Amino acid sequence: MARKKVSIVGSGNVGATAAHWMASKELCDVVLIDIVEGVPQGKGLDLLEAMPIEKRDSFVTGTNDYKDTAGSDIVVITAGIPRKPGMSRDDLLNTNYKIMQDVVGKVVANSPNCILIIVSNPLDAMAQAAYKISGFPRDRVIGMAGVLDSARFRTFIAQELNVSVENVTAFVLGGHGDTMVPLARYSTVAGIPITDLMESAVIQRLVQRTRDGGAEIVKYLKTGSAYYAPSAATTEMVEAILKDKKKILPCAAYLEGEYGIKGLYVGVPCKLGARGLEQIIQIKLTNEEAAALQKSADAVKELCAVIGV
Ligand code: NAI
Ligand code: 2OP
Repeated sequence: MARKKVSIVGSGNVGATAAHWMASKELCDVVLIDIVEGVPQGKGLDLLEAMPIEKRDSFVTGTNDYKDTAGSDIVVITAGIPRKPGMSRDDLLNTNYKIMQDVVGKVVANSPNCILIIVSNPLDAMAQAAYKISGFPRDRVIGMAGVLDSARFRTFIAQELNVSVENVTAFVLGGHGDTMVPLARYSTVAGIPITDLMESAVIQRLVQRTRDGGAEIVKYLKTGSAYYAPSAATTEMVEAILKDKKKILPCAAYLEGEYGIKGLYVGVPCKLGARGLEQIIQIKLTNEEAAALQKSADAVKELCAVIGV
């Protein structure tokens, strides 16, 4: 059986590091593509030359020509500008929308049956844009944010309680922005809800650090934003799809009435398998949680209205 093919649009920090995770796990062959000439070719060849050391047979290449992405099973879109200190993800809206308009049509023309995973920010609005531009059904356009935000929450919970990160599960719903909704009630340590293990003031502190998690890294890096955890999160989604794992992960999905939200990308629990988004899991929310999710959805809606998607 031929290996699966994943193309990654944007060979910057997130794109190239995602290629690294995917190749080192031997999940697929990877094609890196970018608007800048030479960068995807150089990074692709460099990664390929690491494969004998890693004992992996993933074939990694780089290109500026969308023809080389033809027939991809999955296309990950990371093209766009990242934020700098003082900028919010929303400040990237118009620039990255133009890039999305440039990229999505070319991707779709060459891989009409692929599953799109959107990473570019502001995430939910860019996923909505890609959904509209591609004309794909919603099960083939999925946004990455919740896996990253939940991983940050899990990290902070594990540190606070001095337990293995493997014991910690967490759910962060809503848009990938300041209004995201980390759900303490559904976050557990070895199956025990964290609400039984920590004072609510401590949980609130970890929730706020999760909301500010992207900005915390930007403040350190100064010239760009996080990419190790974002690319690992993207790779987890790719793996769930390529291996048809039916894995439940928080992802941005186009809601058609679920959670009382219609016609909008928002982060919710999703089952990922070979068909992409195979199911949206509806969990019961308290009135307070439902209001926070609605507020987050309203923030996404405002951004979508600005670019008319
Ligand atoms: P980066 O600047 O390192 O890489 C972006 C790449 O996109 C550059 O190589 C650039 O040349 C390329 N690019 C720009 N226009 C293009 C076009 N028209 N066609 C093809 N390639 C094009 O940025 P980084 O750190 O990789 O971040 C990429 C995007 O992902 C940003 O918008 C960032 O905000 C977002 N992001 C989203 C996360 C999420 O949780 N959803 C997490 C981390 C980053
Ligand atoms: C993050 O949360 C920049 O959205 C990106 O790190």
